[in-house]
Amino acid sequence: MNLNDPTLLRTDSYINGEWVQAPQNRRFAVTNPATGKVIAEVADLDAAAVTSAIDAAVPAQAAWAARTAKDRAMVMRGWYELVLANAEDLAVILTTEMGKPIAEARGEIAYGATFIDWFAEEARRVCGDVMESPIPDKRFLTFKQPVGVFGAITPWNFPIAMITRKVSPGIAAGCACVLKPAEQTPLSALALAELAHRAGIPAGVINIVTGMDAPAIGSTMCEDDRIRKMTFTGSTEVGRILMRQSAGTLKKMSLELGGNAPLIVFDDADIDTAIAGTMASKYRNAGQTCVCANRIFVQDGIYDEFAKRLVAASDAMKVGDGMEDGVEQGPIIDRQGLDKIERHVADALDKGAELLTGGGRHDLGGTFFQPTVLSGMTPQMQMFGEETFGPVSGLFRFSTDEEVVAMANDTEFGLAAYIFTDSTTRLFRVSEALEYGMVSANTGIFSSEVGPFGGVKSSGLGREGSKYGIDEFLEIKFVCVGL
Ligand code: SIN
Repeated sequence: MNLNDPTLLRTDSYINGEWVQAPQNRRFAVTNPATGKVIAEVADLDAAAVTSAIDAAVPAQAAWAARTAKDRAMVMRGWYELVLANAEDLAVILTTEMGKPIAEARGEIAYGATFIDWFAEEARRVCGDVMESPIPDKRFLTFKQPVGVFGAITPWNFPIAMITRKVSPGIAAGCACVLKPAEQTPLSALALAELAHRAGIPAGVINIVTGMDAPAIGSTMCEDDRIRKMTFTGSTEVGRILMRQSAGTLKKMSLELGGNAPLIVFDDADIDTAIAGTMASKYRNAGQTCVCANRIFVQDGIYDEFAKRLVAASDAMKVGDGMEDGVEQGPIIDRQGLDKIERHVADALDKGAELLTGGGRHDLGGTFFQPTVLSGMTPQMQMFGEETFGPVSGLFRFSTDEEVVAMANDTEFGLAAYIFTDSTTRLFRVSEALEYGMVSANTGIFSSEVGPFGGVKSSGLGREGSKYGIDEFLEIKFVCVGL
């Protein structure tokens, strides 16, 4: 890996401000999904390391919370500036361990950094209330106080942004964290920790535990009553396990779980906007985001033209190693991901879908998959009920607004939905009827530090980013003062 600052490439865990090896220096391999080559051997810590990270986080949190919000904000601001100053190295690390094209990785570093900046500002705007008391000789007020130490478990698909989106509101509020990054992408997390260290975030406030035994690390966090909140991005199945394991210690929970995003194109949509938006949503990160369009519903009158144009745009995509110039789609993260995509395509074809382009592994080999378009999709197919997490556009035909809203809502998930229409009344009507936490109208990309990110139903609990994100790390204390 060619870095301007090679010291950003850390391979030990970061606990209590120190770089920590595993017992007997146990390590696991991190591979580049584009080449299959091992790029680093990272410390393989176990559940005992989580306990020592919590031991460090508890006193560190108390001292950090005792500092003024302005002071915490200034330290965070230093971290933000270091992330920007080292953006190119962070992007190279990210692409090398995760596979997304370098242009997308640069975008993720910029996106990830905005959460540090935003929540550094929000730290200073946390306000309690003074209420109108119903009793003449009593006064009512509230304080907002940090929840304490939180556990965070982050995914491989956004190895930087999902960390900053969780850690920044937490530390802004005066909390400390113990974070486990995905085993596929620990290097980005450790580079972020190195920059946090350089910025002067005190020892114990951010702790990163790397390791392969995710179930043991996760359950240790959930079962320790000194951890007062869990925040997780990943599958609904794992989210349910973490919630169950946290029940014994009744923690606050934020869960960003699976999606099954409908993308609806009405006859009156501007077709250029709809194609650009569909490409942006569907093929972002090779289809490996929780908010990628999973079911593309297209109205009768525009269906054939839309399908033709989507095939042309998909065929024009450059697939390859994310470090190569102009690559727009990198590899799938691993074999398991590739197998699922193949299963969904085979199931759709078995049940009568028509293959318009792609449909299989790419000539590049490894885990590369062809940008794929399927037509004639139906609710009986696996892709209707489960997210594919790959570069496969499945087109469903519909006639009426009522029919498409019913199909879009016919899922246990409710994260993001997209609509393309030129009618303002339809836009409002359909947005209100969609049972989703986020609706993106006439654009395929909506994520930002300013907008609340989160889902309903089996897509999770809580909101990240925005003015609401910091509340997830605060408790409201009611104080009644007798005069
Ligand atoms: C995700 O896929 O979980 C995050 C996507 C985003 O932040 O836009």
